[in-house]
Amino acid sequence: MAETSCRTGIRLGFKLRTTPPGSNNYILFILTLYTFRKMFLIFVVVIVAVVLFLICSFIVLFWRSADADLLLLFKEKFGRGPESLKGQVAWITGASSGIGEYIAYELARAGCRLILSARRRDELERVRSACLREAAGQLTADDILVQVLDVQDFESHKSLVIKVLEHFTKIDILINNAGCSQRAKWMDIELDVDRTLFEINVLGPVSLSQVVLPHMMKRNRGTIVIVSSMVGKLGLPHSRSYNGTKSAVQAYFECLRTEVADNNISITIACPGPTFSNLFLHAATSKHNEKLGRAMSRTEKRMTTDLCAHYIVTALANKLYEVWIAQQPWLAILYIQQYIPDLGRCSCLITQSSKKLPDLLRCNF
Ligand SMILES: NC(=O)c1ccc[n+]([C@@H]2O[C@H](COP(=O)([O-])OP(=O)(O)OC[C@H]3O[C@@H](n4cnc5c(N)ncnc54)[C@H](OP(=O)(O)O)[C@@H]3O)[C@@H](O)[C@H]2O)c1
Repeated sequence: MAETSCRTGIRLGFKLRTTPPGSNNYILFILTLYTFRKMFLIFVVVIVAVVLFLICSFIVLFWRSADADLLLLFKEKFGRGPESLKGQVAWITGASSGIGEYIAYELARAGCRLILSARRRDELERVRSACLREAAGQLTADDILVQVLDVQDFESHKSLVIKVLEHFTKIDILINNAGCSQRAKWMDIELDVDRTLFEINVLGPVSLSQVVLPHMMKRNRGTIVIVSSMVGKLGLPHSRSYNGTKSAVQAYFECLRTEVADNNISITIACPGPTFSNLFLHAATSKHNEKLGRAMSRTEKRMTTDLCAHYIVTALANKLYEVWIAQQPWLAILYIQQYIPDLGRCSCLITQSSKKLPDLLRCNF
């Protein structure tokens, strides 16, 4: 065999020196590769084509069916489920309607004890009764506290935390979900509208978290969830105050995350895309104290409220840093915007200038 390879080497013009016995096989391998190089190239091309095909198929499947970022989808299948939160005390703001209401149901089914907060007591009582039904015997009336709260009334936050601690003695999870959206042209918006939305969407969560944090730090454990929005990651038209507040709230809590990591306190920022709720009924316009008063139509392309809430609770259970929850094409646009910002801007423009323009402009987060 070694003789053959030597002869082949000489025929091909190699000058073979006397080599140690172990390297003969290596030389033979190189020579065989050289002799069959065309076949080898074809083999490599086929392998590359198969790998590319698999990657493309995966991207197409992901594009068509994904409604959350990859890590969240993975954790939803293989990570900790909501039931891992059983027994924990969770405080939800904006629990009287929409996403907050469905987060309450998801946590009640998981066996969490709850504090339900918003401004409308009657709606909170309705959600409380529904939570007790959803909990199917895991919770008693005492396990769900209705606590009326206006996130804009910063002065009241400290005394509310004291009341909650008197009832439950601990707060494991704070979900800052209460929020207000907007529909108005950038140029027409009164500064007072920016101020109000900043109070509800940014300073409210900051103030409440600031009074809950000393308790969490003392216990060396806790989770704070911020229900932000896709518009916190990319600019969308006709809601400047909303865009600005959602970006801002993320920055405030990104900063907090770096300071409390040593205290075993985790911060989860959820960025949902269009989801069914009552968001437009109470959304701001360009005028101070004016409400949009528009109900969402069932025909709009939006995620169901319970699915959005399920993803948020999954993110919380798995202590994920930041999650994106949106149907296509919004999820893909988020990915493009995040990793290739200039292309992201193009895809946004293309989507908005398509025939669906009126529908998309009505979409607000
Ligand atoms: N739906 C979407 O498409 C979407 C998309 C992305 C992000 N989000 C975010 O998801 C969160 C929940 O909104 P949603 O869609 O579920 O809308 P929603 O049905 O209108 O719920 C908003 C909740 O916030 C409460 N709230 C408003 N102002 C408050 C205040 N000053 N103090 C205390 N509570 C207040 C409301 O309760 P009261 O009126 O009883 O006070 C209500 O429970 C918001 O932060 C929103 O920005 C929604």
